[in-house]
Amino acid sequence: ARGASLTDFAEKINIDPAQLVQVLFNLGEMVTATQSVSEETLRVLSKELNYDIQVVSPEDEDRELLESFDIEFGEDEGGEEDLEVRPPVVTVMGHVDHGKTKLLDAIRKTNVVAGEAGGITQAIGAYQVSTEVDGDERKITFIDTPGHEAFTAMRARGAKSTDIAVLVVAADDGVMPQTIEALNHAQAADVPIVVAVNKIDREGADPTKVRGQLTEYGLVPEEYGGDTMFVDVSAISGVGIDSLLEAVILTADAALDLRANPEMDGQGVAIEAHLDKGRGPVATVLVQRGTLHVGDSIVAGTGYGRVRALLDDHGENVDEAPPSFPVQVLGLTAVPGAGDSFIVVEDDRMARQIAERRASRLRMAAQAAGTRRKTLDQLFDQ
Ligand code: GTP
Ligand code: MG
Repeated sequence: ARGASLTDFAEKINIDPAQLVQVLFNLGEMVTATQSVSEETLRVLSKELNYDIQVVSPEDEDRELLESFDIEFGEDEGGEEDLEVRPPVVTVMGHVDHGKTKLLDAIRKTNVVAGEAGGITQAIGAYQVSTEVDGDERKITFIDTPGHEAFTAMRARGAKSTDIAVLVVAADDGVMPQTIEALNHAQAADVPIVVAVNKIDREGADPTKVRGQLTEYGLVPEEYGGDTMFVDVSAISGVGIDSLLEAVILTADAALDLRANPEMDGQGVAIEAHLDKGRGPVATVLVQRGTLHVGDSIVAGTGYGRVRALLDDHGENVDEAPPSFPVQVLGLTAVPGAGDSFIVVEDDRMARQIAERRASRLRMAAQAAGTRRKTLDQLFDQ
């Protein structure tokens, strides 16, 4: 329980809410049954009633909510035979101005099919490119959340959406504070790192120095006997971009077993979302398992709805989105938060019920926090 009302709590422990009101009254606290109460009050109550309560995290609470609808989030259904190889999902990180965005631009240009190139507005903050490795056509999904803050937020919510981190270090500037921060986040999340030593076209570029610096932080280049791939690139001239993509694929193949069941209902994570004047809530989501289709009933954070349209990274309509595919989703009732999960559910009714339960929980948590604050303010006012 977390910031629940007395009625909610009473229901959980199967007791008359009026009794709880009475118990609190006897303790000198005046609370109505529908009012949300603090965690502390719930603890006091439980002790009074000889109940052993456990305060659960919002994540656990949400898992419980989903379980009550027979939904399991985060697991591929079926067995080994149902899993298919999926593209790696890569986040580009690094110090400010070291060329993350430019590098993403260069990657896109080298891979966008001729004719499509140029003039295409990047519709969403994530995209998929293809590259040929050993004669095989391989796909890579890049998430354009270059700031490490976004990465932390996603990780904090347990949405481990990134398979590989590309750490961009400008060869003329070397390792800087945010390089280390990004590195720490990736290592803490146990995400393999590929280093892109960028701006090698610049005068004063010293790629060897970058290798030396990062070795001190435990990122030892393969050529020094370590297991991290370093690739020298220039986002301006395009040099090394293909090698970088190849390094990403090699790292994925060597270190990760990236497979998902494409046949189940789609599940994944919202990367970014906003309210569009004409189109309503627009969410960029990454499908992590299953397949998302136009017409599916989905719930994403406190938003829900029937998928009205799916747009790929060129802004083109698609009918479905398989694992590792980033798409924009239209048709939600509310804007989910970055890092919120999205789940395809049986029908609109179920989607609405889940979203409403989440929304009411958030409201109650906010209220409970507000109540506590008010009490403190009153104390200080006296
Ligand atoms: P933030 O998003 O602000 O953290 O920066 P960023 O890491 O995305 O850097 P961005 O791609 O905006 O590049 C910063 C500047 O460096 C721009 O002026 C780029 O044109 C320049 N730049 C990026 N890559 C290269 C490169 O390989 N060579 C040269 N000469 N300049 C580059
Ligand atoms: Mg940038």
